[in-house]
Amino acid sequence: MDAFTLIAFVGTCFLFFLKASTAVDSISPSEPLPYGNTLVSSDGSFELGFFSPGSSGNWYLGIWYKNIPVRTVVWVANRMNPLNDSSGMLMITNTGEIQILSQNVTVVWSANSTAAAQNPVLQLLSTGNLVLMNERDENSGAYLWQSFDYPSDTLLPEMKFGWDLRTGLDRRLTAWKNSDDPSPSDFTWEFELQGDPEGVLWKGLQKYFRGGPWNGIGFSGSPSLKPNNPIFAYEFVFNEDEVYYMYTLRNKSLISRIVLNQTDYTAQRYTWSEETQTWRLIGYLPRDYCDTYGLCGAYGNCDNTQLPACQCLKGFKPRLPDRWSSGDWSQGCVRNKPLNCQRDGFLRFKQLKLPDANHSWVNRTMTLKDCKDKCLQNCSCMAYSSFDITEGSGCAIWFGDLVDIRQFQSGGQDLFIRMSASELGSKINETKLKIALTIATPLSFPLVVLIVCYYFGKSKKRSEERIEEKKETDISNEGQEEDMELPMFELARISNATDNFSVSNKLGEGGFGPVYKGKLEDGREIAVKRLSLTSGQGINEFKNEVKLVAKLQHRNLVRLLGCCIEGEEKMLVYEYMPNKSLDSFIFDQTRSKELDWSRRFRIICGVARGLLYLHQDSRLRIIHRDLKASNVLLDSEMNPKISDFGLARTFGGDQTEGNTKRVVGTYGYMAPEYAIDGLFSVKSDVFSFGVLLLEIISGFKNRGFFQPKHNLNLIGHAWRLLREGNPLELAAESLGESCNPSEVTRCTHIGLLCVQQNPEDRPTMSSVVLMLASEIELPQPKQPGFLLEKTAPGTDTSTSKHDSTTVNEITITILQGR
Ligand SMILES: *[C@@H]1O[C@H](CO)[C@@H](O)[C@H](O)[C@H]1NC(C)=O
Ligand SMILES: *[C@@H]1O[C@H](CO)[C@@H](O)[C@H](O)[C@H]1NC(C)=O
Ligand SMILES: *[C@@H]1O[C@H](CO)[C@@H](O)[C@H](O)[C@H]1NC(C)=O
Ligand SMILES: *[C@@H]1O[C@H](CO)[C@@H](O)[C@H](O)[C@H]1NC(C)=O
Ligand SMILES: *[C@@H]1O[C@H](CO)[C@@H](O)[C@H](O)[C@H]1NC(C)=O
Ligand SMILES: *[C@@H]1O[C@H](CO)[C@@H](O)[C@H](O)[C@H]1NC(C)=O
Ligand SMILES: *[C@@H]1O[C@H](CO)[C@@H](O)[C@H](O)[C@H]1NC(C)=O
Ligand SMILES: *[C@@H]1O[C@H](CO)[C@@H](O)[C@H](O)[C@H]1NC(C)=O
Repeated sequence: MDAFTLIAFVGTCFLFFLKASTAVDSISPSEPLPYGNTLVSSDGSFELGFFSPGSSGNWYLGIWYKNIPVRTVVWVANRMNPLNDSSGMLMITNTGEIQILSQNVTVVWSANSTAAAQNPVLQLLSTGNLVLMNERDENSGAYLWQSFDYPSDTLLPEMKFGWDLRTGLDRRLTAWKNSDDPSPSDFTWEFELQGDPEGVLWKGLQKYFRGGPWNGIGFSGSPSLKPNNPIFAYEFVFNEDEVYYMYTLRNKSLISRIVLNQTDYTAQRYTWSEETQTWRLIGYLPRDYCDTYGLCGAYGNCDNTQLPACQCLKGFKPRLPDRWSSGDWSQGCVRNKPLNCQRDGFLRFKQLKLPDANHSWVNRTMTLKDCKDKCLQNCSCMAYSSFDITEGSGCAIWFGDLVDIRQFQSGGQDLFIRMSASELGSKINETKLKIALTIATPLSFPLVVLIVCYYFGKSKKRSEERIEEKKETDISNEGQEEDMELPMFELARISNATDNFSVSNKLGEGGFGPVYKGKLEDGREIAVKRLSLTSGQGINEFKNEVKLVAKLQHRNLVRLLGCCIEGEEKMLVYEYMPNKSLDSFIFDQTRSKELDWSRRFRIICGVARGLLYLHQDSRLRIIHRDLKASNVLLDSEMNPKISDFGLARTFGGDQTEGNTKRVVGTYGYMAPEYAIDGLFSVKSDVFSFGVLLLEIISGFKNRGFFQPKHNLNLIGHAWRLLREGNPLELAAESLGESCNPSEVTRCTHIGLLCVQQNPEDRPTMSSVVLMLASEIELPQPKQPGFLLEKTAPGTDTSTSKHDSTTVNEITITILQGR
């Protein structure tokens, strides 16, 4: 310390004892800032001073919002060098060094100016930036030093997050260790420069979340960051001098910040709420399970609408199938067909988060065509994509295995992945309908037909385009379409196969008619549903509907093979399931032992996935309306397959969407609003799923459930056990040792969420699938609907509400074995 400052500070200390706490607007070598005084920005929004966080007893120099009652520190100077008492003082030297002194003499922290100083002053700007400048440079924006260059855990508006490449300055965020200790923890957020720059959250030495590279609009891994949001605007600058992200508030009177939270390892964005006088969380990263870095390993694709969330990319298979199927995806996927280098091509994947790789490279001016050639030339180049999707220009290419890919439903980016020519060849047999049907997905049936007709009308003209499209096949959608023609079976052939519909081949009887087992000439086993219902539909209408239902293909749905229409006869032909239906296992004392918990859990997940497909992922939005244990069939490997889907749609003649005069369903599984008011929706299926889930766990039927202690039904019983904190008591005795307490508890919890009284309180199937697949925290269920067993314990029959006495409209189980 030079003589001048010593004199200066002695003078000021004297002053300090005369005036108690003072707020000043600048600090100069002759006017240091002792403890108790603060430096305030000119607009009064930020304040700098000494503070002691929590119960630590340590003192730090920091910046906080002046006008917010909740002390929110946005920057700390001496994070790693706390003062052990309140004797701190901030001062600057004539040479432009900023110092924090303890006990008047010991320098515990300092920062130096980056250029020669002349009469330096230290000021706090209205942005929260603490700046050191030469007095004559005031208002010029030339700073000798600024706190914005050394962020703590908070990113304020107008603060650059990223690199100054000229000086090598790395502006990164590091979380506090805990609320008592601002010293840097192992949780950091930093721009990674290699190749295509992107923000990465690190947990120690492990990558924890990637934001994905910039694509001209946003970051490819964060599609929810939208340029047109009402709260803030943002920019990303990437040139020879700088790489940074910065946001600015649209309304300058709003208060907002981004902060790293060590407690739950998130980057959180808050705004201040004047009304409630609290911080409101408006966004955070990582958002979900699929954001976990590298969750699915190399060439694995994470899709949180699927269960399990990890799928190998098309053209790849699990490296270690056993581990993959047990949910350990870390080893990733390998190619079905090895690369050949010279004769490879590229397959286009849509709406992905761009991958991470050991090495990537960008050129911002190259065309996509040149990019492809560039990648093709180097055998270790695995993928390319455009750099800027707004113009479809620029080139990013990746070398080495591709990791941390995820599928978005909206947003994301096209990625072209190298494939061997033979893999590409097998993709060319696409049906013509694919594109038309993809477009028509959410639309209703007549529109589908219209578009299909239109498409065929146009198909000649567009054939060339289509060939181009075929080469770079779009495979973000599930499975390929097969031919539109639904196989028609002749009556004679079916009659033959079922031994003329002999009683001995009859598998069951239900609302739409009896079901027979049959064997075709080629030995294939089938199940034939002979429809007794004379619906008002014409033959063509019926055929078209059946064709559409036949398009629904999913591993957890029973496959419709074809139909038969002759005279008054209408029949549906299904694949035959050898292992009966789920109810014949779970409700049966001896057979229930064959289903241990892991099998049951797989069945639960499979049914959830099948139902999600019906609700959301298929081209038609199908509400099952009669999901129950006897409608879940099991194949030879005990994989669950939902049956009887789409029938209510096909035969529910007089229904309007969402309301039906004829209630098709089964007591015990029907949601209150459906059983009572005939209102159905995807949420009434969710209710049935919830009941089914509780039945699978407990081995009891919801309807007819009896407990000596109370007159609750199974739902009520489960609710009571969960509330009493004994959810494990619900687990069926037959589970024995196989019972996995945390999964059983979680499933019970999910089941109860699904059977909430109010449809809006029930999760969607996509949330259910996510909840089953991950460890995310579950909302607390309220009291569910239909708690009491009001009617006499009856059998598991289904009833037509409007005509329950005469028509025995049992909804049937198609394929009950003998
Ligand atoms: C506080 O720190 C100073 C030096 O930094 C040291 O001399 C002193 O003993 C410490 N006091 C306590 C109570 O730890
Ligand atoms: C610091 O300065 C104050 C005021 O001049 C004085 O009372 C105190 O003893 C000094 N402390 C040390 C450790 O020199
Ligand atoms: C601070 O910077 C000035 C010039 O920029 C230099 O003379 C001085 O030695 C530096 N001080 C320290 C502690 O690095
Ligand atoms: C900005 O926000 C303030 C306070 O929240 C509000 O009073 C004002 O109307 C807003 N201005 C605009 C242009 O939206
Ligand atoms: C961290 O996040 C949790 C939960 O979101 C919140 O309760 C806590 O206040 C946050 N901590 C900080 C320091 O913001
Ligand atoms: C980079 O290469 C190393 C060693 O070859 C490998 O362990 C690592 O997983 C690779 N990382 C990525 C992102 O591909
Ligand atoms: C990027 O590509 C353009 C056009 O192909 C080329 O002129 C330029 O040199 C390339 N830049 C780099 C850095 O490779
Ligand atoms: C292919 O790219 C890698 C990574 O950039 C490089 O090391 C290698 O030399 C390139 N090979 C050829 C033949 O250009």
